[in-house]
Amino acid sequence: MSLDLKIDGPDREHRPDHLAQNVLGHEIDRPDGWLKVKGEATYAAETFPEGLVHGILVRAPGIGRVSCANLEDVRNMPEVLAVVRDERLLRNAAQGGANEAPVQGVDTAEYVGQPVALVVAETFEAARHAAVALTVEIDGVEAPVDPEAVVPEEPDNQISTRGDLDGAMRHAPYSIDVVYTTASMNSAAMEPHAATAVWDGEVLTLRGALQMLKFNRNELADSLGLPPERVRILAPYVGGGFGSKLGISADCVAAAVAAMELNRPVRVVQHRRDVFEVNVRRSETRQRIRLACDTQGRLTGLGHEALVSNLPKEEFFEPVLQASYFAYAAANRDLRLKAARINRPATGSVRAPGEAVGVTVFEAAIDELAVKTGIDPIELRLRNIPEKDPDTGVPFSSHRLEATLKDGSERFGWNERDPAPRQRREGEWWIGTGMAAAFRVNMITPAEARITLDGDRATVESDMTDIGTGSYVIFQQIAAEILGLPTGKVDVRLGDTAYPPGSGSGGSFGAASTGTAVWLAGMEIRRALAERLGCDESEMTLRDGYVTHGNRRVPLADLVGGGAFSGHGRVEPGDAQEKVRQATYGAHFAEVGVNDVTGEVRVRRMLGSFSAGRILNPRTARSQCHGGMIWGIGMALTEEMTHDRRDGHVVNRDFAGYHVPVNADVPPLDVYFVEELDDWAGPLQVKGIGELSICGSGGAIFNAIHHACGARLRDFPATPDRVLAALS
Ligand code: MOS
Repeated sequence: MSLDLKIDGPDREHRPDHLAQNVLGHEIDRPDGWLKVKGEATYAAETFPEGLVHGILVRAPGIGRVSCANLEDVRNMPEVLAVVRDERLLRNAAQGGANEAPVQGVDTAEYVGQPVALVVAETFEAARHAAVALTVEIDGVEAPVDPEAVVPEEPDNQISTRGDLDGAMRHAPYSIDVVYTTASMNSAAMEPHAATAVWDGEVLTLRGALQMLKFNRNELADSLGLPPERVRILAPYVGGGFGSKLGISADCVAAAVAAMELNRPVRVVQHRRDVFEVNVRRSETRQRIRLACDTQGRLTGLGHEALVSNLPKEEFFEPVLQASYFAYAAANRDLRLKAARINRPATGSVRAPGEAVGVTVFEAAIDELAVKTGIDPIELRLRNIPEKDPDTGVPFSSHRLEATLKDGSERFGWNERDPAPRQRREGEWWIGTGMAAAFRVNMITPAEARITLDGDRATVESDMTDIGTGSYVIFQQIAAEILGLPTGKVDVRLGDTAYPPGSGSGGSFGAASTGTAVWLAGMEIRRALAERLGCDESEMTLRDGYVTHGNRRVPLADLVGGGAFSGHGRVEPGDAQEKVRQATYGAHFAEVGVNDVTGEVRVRRMLGSFSAGRILNPRTARSQCHGGMIWGIGMALTEEMTHDRRDGHVVNRDFAGYHVPVNADVPPLDVYFVEELDDWAGPLQVKGIGELSICGSGGAIFNAIHHACGARLRDFPATPDRVLAALS
């Protein structure tokens, strides 16, 4: 049995409105919190199967044909068990969730840093020693590594035009035509990618650091040449992913191949340098924005052209324009994405792929137009909110941009601001404020979950992951709500492909997708309980482990009796996604100081107001938003992977050279939610929150830099050298 739901339109039948437990929307503690604090939550490199041996990835120092001259010498080194040079090893990390097969092979290197061998030894130290001893020779080929130096592709499905943008630009009283750049970036999750593989002759069991297990299982099976039934993946705890763990990674396939060859459990942990080179990164972008408006600030023309890059044959292109299609109204439009094929490490999804850089740049350009027209930046945005999706003409399922702009501006004190730049000075520091809007597409993806009710204890099971996001606690809340139990009576088991396939963690769709599946599983149990009582589900109240119907109140455990109830929920997207445009919205505000002498920028405070459906747990939702805003600080000020101009290799491949914001960089962050209940978002009315808060946040900081010192920067990040150059 299973309760299945396809999201074709607004759902009123499966709503939580009549439920009594009242745990949704509250700051419930994470059940995994103490385990993590005490070190009892184990990660992929923290399992110790009997006979475990260690593998180290060896990577290519150049681009071209690969050979290893001293292979036999290394194989004969002490404690070395194997040097695996198997064509099944991954060339690029898989993209995750897509239909593309992973790209494999070790005979040629497509980018510097590509894995070309795995050295396995009895100890980690011996493996590392032998890996260093292995000589990798490259018969080099000329390969393009600079996106500006090649003729880009223009994929048809990435172009949207309407009217005459050139004409609108020519005739507008106000227009801007500007080019911005954003840097190549790394997900930089705290836990490095790692895998422990065990082969029992029949089934390959892998403990991995992965986000989307049902896809990862297929990718791993495909890579190994096994049917998926003979692969099991576990990832109960994952130390961050941010997109870099969406697809199966090099360590997983290498550990599995070696375990099958040696009949020993094999662990492979990526060195931080590997993390920077062999997993997907966010593409660098060059973005040209054209905006034309009338004297009232109403947009008449909107152009957004973006250049991104990826390796040859990869299908992913950073979807920079994703929000530009629907963010603002303008009759004359030209949106196009161009893709340069270059031999730098593969690009892929990194937190809020597309909008993170697209909205950030677009919102900086809108600020330029606001300054030019003399219209307040918030007012300019309010004047350009479209009535329906300007790209497809369908209505919006809900639209809360205005509400978040007004909420945020009031809380931030926007109206006290002198709009003129370069007005506030404190010692060496210019002080200024800026704002930006946030947009992010919202989606639901196929997901399943199971609940077993035994007495008055419920167990939720799904292969869904919790990558630090709060999946454990929100599923506990959802199951507790629908079954009328205190949250402590609900156990949540995640991260095992033996459980029903959830959505996986990606695209901010986890809470809505797998959460709805958990909800439906609970609804199925409610209906079975009501049947046993002889009433309709809506006439029965479940609360604190008791069932009330009419004037009868009995312990839930008595109604359940000796047997257990099991519910299975399944949700999938229907054609709702074609009938309405569904998105989440927000507003970012930032105050910065710009040092007139050193060019240093310090963020002094930040505030975000976000609208993203029903907030299941304000604490975990706020924590997500803190993360996104901090990423905005990184994007605006420090984060940049530098690629060598000759061969594209990543120059700064550790946390000393790639600077993610640390505590000293992060000021007080205020997060507010403008709650909305979007009928189109499934019965729980939950939407994605994780990625929304990065979309545009760096733009607010850039706009604040301009307001502070009067210099307009157009290259992210605003490092001191760039700021100084702009100041002079
Ligand atoms: Mo996300 S970038 O889909 O983990």
